[in-house]
Amino acid sequence: MHKDKPTLGWTTTCKVSGALICFFWMAILECTSTRGQSPQCDPKKVVTSAGCIQCHTQADAVWKRTPHFISFNTLHRQPEAKVIAKKMGIISIKRSDVCVGCHYTQIEKTGSKPKAISGVSCESCHGAGRDWVNIHHDYGGPSVTKSLETPTHAELRLEKSSQNGMRNPKNLFLMAKSCLTCHTVPNEKLVNIGGHSAGSLDFDFVTWSQGTIRHNFLRSNGQRNATTDDQRLRIMWVAGLLADLELSTRATAAATQKQNYGITVAKRAARVSLKLYEVQQKIENPHLEKALIAFSDAELKINNKEQLEKIADQIEDAGMKFAANAGAGDLIAIADQLPAESSYK
Ligand code: HEC
Ligand code: HEC
Ligand code: HEC
Ligand code: HEC
Repeated sequence: MHKDKPTLGWTTTCKVSGALICFFWMAILECTSTRGQSPQCDPKKVVTSAGCIQCHTQADAVWKRTPHFISFNTLHRQPEAKVIAKKMGIISIKRSDVCVGCHYTQIEKTGSKPKAISGVSCESCHGAGRDWVNIHHDYGGPSVTKSLETPTHAELRLEKSSQNGMRNPKNLFLMAKSCLTCHTVPNEKLVNIGGHSAGSLDFDFVTWSQGTIRHNFLRSNGQRNATTDDQRLRIMWVAGLLADLELSTRATAAATQKQNYGITVAKRAARVSLKLYEVQQKIENPHLEKALIAFSDAELKINNKEQLEKIADQIEDAGMKFAANAGAGDLIAIADQLPAESSYK
């Protein structure tokens, strides 16, 4: 592929060029935001992993060993899944709108119904590809290589692909949000009536993304599945907590009954906020401060949609800015709060 380190340069660039680029990320937020939406990709825009594999062969091989891929063939056979489906009045798990949102990727060809074709896939995390896949690797025409691409073109490429729905790992808050739209399980009926788990309660972005899921071949120019450097891990840690705070606040906003769902997601939001307070004491970051001030007004109770959605929006804005601005050196103070490598899933 190419020789430059694609991901590491970005955070520094953002810091240097300041407001302009961060404004760009805020614009992206407006286009690709999952505010109030189901985590599912638009089936009309899904190109499937077949549309990625020719260039990302190694990432594809890693993905095929993860539960995200494997469960496509196992979930609907699991007795627990059948019990949940029965309680929800669902006959076919693979065809149910409910289960598909978080367990499968669907495609929809013109004239036919959406069809589940794999488990959680590349596009579940990086965004449905149809409108960005040909833009994100185009350095400026067939004869232009990575090293010949102008910085302006590189910026434009990022901007265009993001506007067209790509969730690019250059913004780690956006990536963490991807995970948490599913891993907070924001569906009250599914939990209270179906008996589904009320989210992955021990989820943290570092532990959960750096084990079996990791597929960092681009930054090593295809040489190996690179580990993530400490600075990036620290940004991930804080961005992951901010995304969790946003999405568990949003999940609480949807709670209408004082039962398992509402109680679990509200506790989750409160617990994450305490972790973030601990982080803030060490790093004194202005964006994190904004998120925490917004959250301090939150009344974590049922039927409080309007207030909690508004607060979640503020946390989201702060999270995007945090991830776009975090730069080298800022986060060394939290080095000892990060999970140990031995705990990676
Ligand atoms: C024709 C080849 C090609 C195809 C097909 C392709 N990619 Fe890429 N992809 C690339 C190249 C080249 C890069 C490196 C771009 C750069 O230098 O910034 C890249 C970069 C990426 C990145 C990292 C962006 C970054 O800056 O860190 C992600 C994520 C990604 N691709 C996902 C996908 C997914 C998902 C698909 C399928 C839907 C896909 N790609 C299809 C060639 C391709
Ligand atoms: C909002 C997202 C979401 C929806 C909708 C959803 N699930 Fe899940 N499901 C998850 C997540 C996330 C996990 C992993 C939970 C964990 O970490 O404990 C999971 C785990 C499971 C498990 C346990 C699997 C295992 O291998 O441990 C079963 C069974 C299951 N889901 C069945 C269903 C069924 C059946 C439906 C449809 C009625 C459904 N789910 C809908 C997100 C969802
Ligand atoms: C579209 C929904 C969805 C998205 C997006 C998603 N996941 Fe998952 N994830 C699931 C479901 C569902 C399961 C449970 C699979 C099963 O066993 O059936 C799961 C399982 C996992 C597991 C295995 C857990 C275990 O106990 O072995 C890890 C690790 C994981 N996810 C990490 C992530 C990370 C990190 C991200 C974001 C970068 C992410 N997931 C994004 C739905 C999703
Ligand atoms: C569970 C969510 C998830 C799935 C599924 C997933 N990715 Fe990623 N991807 C991520 C995250 C998170 C990162 C950033 C990881 C990091 O920095 O450590 C990433 C990074 C990348 C990168 C940049 C790697 C580098 O070296 O910087 C590429 C390219 C990529 N993914 C392509 C793909 C392709 C192709 C697939 C499907 C075969 C895929 N991803 C499936 C979440 C996912």
